[in-house]
Amino acid sequence: PALDRDAFRAWSNEMVARTSPEAEARAYQEMPAYLAELAAAKRSRPGQDLLSAMIHTVDEGGDRLSPDELIGMCVLLLIAGHETTVNLIGNGMRALFAHPGQLADLRADFGLLEGAVEEMLRYDGPVENCTDRLALEDVEMGGVTIPAGSTVLIAMAGADRDPERFQQADRFDIRRDSRGHIAFGHGLHYCLGAPLARLEGRIAIRTLLERCPDLRLDAEETELPWMRGLLIRGARELPVRW
Ligand code: HEM
Repeated sequence: PALDRDAFRAWSNEMVARTSPEAEARAYQEMPAYLAELAAAKRSRPGQDLLSAMIHTVDEGGDRLSPDELIGMCVLLLIAGHETTVNLIGNGMRALFAHPGQLADLRADFGLLEGAVEEMLRYDGPVENCTDRLALEDVEMGGVTIPAGSTVLIAMAGADRDPERFQQADRFDIRRDSRGHIAFGHGLHYCLGAPLARLEGRIAIRTLLERCPDLRLDAEETELPWMRGLLIRGARELPVRW
């Protein structure tokens, strides 16, 4: 519901990059409680929305999502769909501000947009590390043995700056071929929302540039610390003028 967006956004921000341990704990308590209440309301008065559909969906075996699974699925979909795209737009604009020549080129030719969004995903993808993986057997990688049973954290942001895969990998270049980046993960858990996220990113960046011809950063690049935390890469604030 539109009225609840500010509260939702604050909880969601705390859950990916806390401002304090207390605020984070509060968010983990309040968001599921809010969603449980919303689910109860949808259960009695279903609408044409995803939450109502998830409440009433029954799989082939006749199984329904349990109340806890339903809340877990909502948190996953809403956070996975929100914090990621927000930071794609933020990080992408930040990179353009830092490369004014490329910003001007993009404004002059939106044919560059698709490639630009892919490069934004590669250069500063909003998801830095994937969720934990478990080694089912001993795995040898780069001269190191990962023993069976250990958890593994894969730094996708690091892989996307791999100089063996991308020439001058630390350079932002909207004209490069950035295909093969793994900003949306890889394999079984490849991002469910990748086509939607790409579409949202292209629409948002283009709309911003078209509506705000004088859009510019209103801070020094060095004044914009990255959020702390392992999952999401983004600035807490990106002050602009237009
Ligand atoms: C730029 C935007 C996005 C990025 C960079 C992104 C990135 C990712 C990554 C890296 C994973 C895999 C995590 C892992 O393997 O541990 C993932 C999974 C997922 N994403 Fe996204 N995502 C984005 C947008 C979205 C959107 C818009 C939605 C939904 C509306 C979404 C829903 C999901 C879901 C449900 C999964 C879990 C898939 C599974 O485990 O099978 N994502 N995303």
